Amino acid sequence: AFTVVAQRSGIEVQVSVGQRISEALREAGVEIEMSCEAGVCGTCYTRVLEGEPDHKDSFQTNAELAANEGIAICCSGSKSPRLVLDV
Ligand code: FES
Repeated sequence: AFTVVAQRSGIEVQVSVGQRISEALREAGVEIEMSCEAGVCGTCYTRVLEGEPDHKDSFQTNAELAANEGIAICCSGSKSPRLVLDV
């Protein structure tokens, strides 16, 4: 489990094991745009302000993945205990 801070929304959610970040944010009332929900389309791409994502998507290039500037919140997780996102 890890914590996701939705910076612009001003809320913080716990993401449990097996739960999607998008799901946890939606349950907390944050509007999330999604399409494929499988890490392919990039619709759910969200900027990472702090923390290290555990990338599971396949649309970012290796350089983008290594830069950790964004995350596909439909499928990716977190390697750090806390992720701060620009949502
Ligand atoms: Fe398509 Fe997340 S909804 S990559």
